[in-house]
Amino acid sequence: MGVPVYAFDVVIVGAGLAGCAAAIECKKAKLKTIVLSKLHPLRSHSGAAQGGINAALNEKSTKAHEFDTVKGSDYLGDQDAIALMCAKAPSVVRYLENMGAVFSRADDGRIAQRAFGGQSAARACFAKDRTGLTCLQTMYEQADRLGVEFLSEWYVGDLLYRDGAAFGVTAYDMRDTEFAIFNAKAVLFATGGYARAYAVNSNAMANTGDGLSIAARHGLPLEDMEFVQFHPTGIAQRGILLSEAARGEGGHLFNSENKRFMIDYAPGKMELASRDVVSRAIESEIRQGRGVGEKKNAVYLDLTHLGEDTINARLPELRDLCRSFLGRDLVSERVMIRPTAHYSMGGIPTDIHCRVRRDADRLVTGFYAAGECACVSVHGANRLGANSLLEAVVFGKTAGETIVKDIDAIELIQADETDARTFMNEVKTLLENNGRHSVAQLRKKLQDSMTKNVGIFRTEESLKEQINTINQIKKAFKKIRLSDNSKCFNTELQEAIEFSHMIDYTQFITQGALLRKESRGAHYREDYINRDDQSFLAHSFAYFNKSKKVKVEYVQVSIKDHKPQIRSY
Ligand code: FUM
Repeated sequence: MGVPVYAFDVVIVGAGLAGCAAAIECKKAKLKTIVLSKLHPLRSHSGAAQGGINAALNEKSTKAHEFDTVKGSDYLGDQDAIALMCAKAPSVVRYLENMGAVFSRADDGRIAQRAFGGQSAARACFAKDRTGLTCLQTMYEQADRLGVEFLSEWYVGDLLYRDGAAFGVTAYDMRDTEFAIFNAKAVLFATGGYARAYAVNSNAMANTGDGLSIAARHGLPLEDMEFVQFHPTGIAQRGILLSEAARGEGGHLFNSENKRFMIDYAPGKMELASRDVVSRAIESEIRQGRGVGEKKNAVYLDLTHLGEDTINARLPELRDLCRSFLGRDLVSERVMIRPTAHYSMGGIPTDIHCRVRRDADRLVTGFYAAGECACVSVHGANRLGANSLLEAVVFGKTAGETIVKDIDAIELIQADETDARTFMNEVKTLLENNGRHSVAQLRKKLQDSMTKNVGIFRTEESLKEQINTINQIKKAFKKIRLSDNSKCFNTELQEAIEFSHMIDYTQFITQGALLRKESRGAHYREDYINRDDQSFLAHSFAYFNKSKKVKVEYVQVSIKDHKPQIRSY
């Protein structure tokens, strides 16, 4: 039987906050829209964000939020995009509230706001410490109520793309591995980030960076991939997120000498410096022998002075997580934490309307990206906590609005079943391969080596070593063997495809990091410890060339009101 071709106005890939926000706009405009997701929407990773969503609700203007975000980005964020996001933040929080998101309240009945890292005011609006889940449930319910069509457990493996225009995707139904083409005038990728490239991370299993690799395989650029955020407080060695809200509510960090060591790194902000600064401080303490625990490879997070009532009212999820995974109660005990790979600042480059860039000067027709897979770029070299939910809703909604504006001018490129060939052949090869390597072993090798060589601290030597390691893994991947060749929910097949994406985008991260001979935000080179605005106040745009080698170009940053200054906390 041939591959069916289904026609839509809009295909959205990914059903997290950005995907749902866009789908609502498209549906309201009566566009024929489908949302494809490899998960049920409510299992999307947006639901894992705990601490808050930023908005300058009670400030005279949104300028301070804007400045904090620019400074947090170490001046690499595009200031036109940042200004837009911060200006829209208050209305976006009210939009969520009007749709039914139940935010925690202050004593006077207004939406409560807590302090978060790197910010000059308490502006993270929150729903206890389950903010992402609350927003995602609300958004999904509203999309469902409007009649948005979701197809869950469909795996998208290729973008239909020709001569600068996108016209749909190829996907298979995970229940039976039957392929279909979703042909559309507009395709939105809202496929999430890539922090699973690291051995210890806070990300959902599904965050495998599929959308990025799929775009790159068509010769499209990926932007600023070398910037990966390590969140300071993951449960030690497991990486499970303990929200920055813990420090926002007043939590302290201690080393083995019982010292609040942040005094030596960020005396002005202490535990509430930006994430890159706090993560480097923790790792420096560990390197210098002041870690805690049997292997001295963690530090303590202490909330015991906050009291049970505050913890229950504001951080119940954290209390549960520590009880379940550590058997410890935050109310009376300190817990061991260590930085965990958390967020991808880099992604598919877009303009401020979420249209995907083909290169520095041109856009792709009919292709849009929003949320963590996109790089618009509002986070630059380091994201502020509680700006990711904001970005997802602001730019998800913007993507939907842009598609509605653009759609009449886009001509549908008719797809036929031959357009499914590339992805079908990829799957066939994986199923029939008869090598000796297992995906799980190769993935472990890749994640471990990324952690060691392209982690919080990087050097030319470690990055070159990583390029060699990836090349070995690439060769070995050609000789993998799947033990499951069946067609029904073949998770081993899916993991192999996802791993092939990881091999792709780890090359972009590593090559970008090797060429960026400076330290900026989350990218810290021990051999180039200073920021170098002269040479590197620029976005990296990296492409696969014809022989699938990564080449990198640099593109101007949008600088408006905030001229680069020395950044300290
Ligand atoms: O720490 C947190 O609650 C995470 C929030 C974020 O990454 O924005």
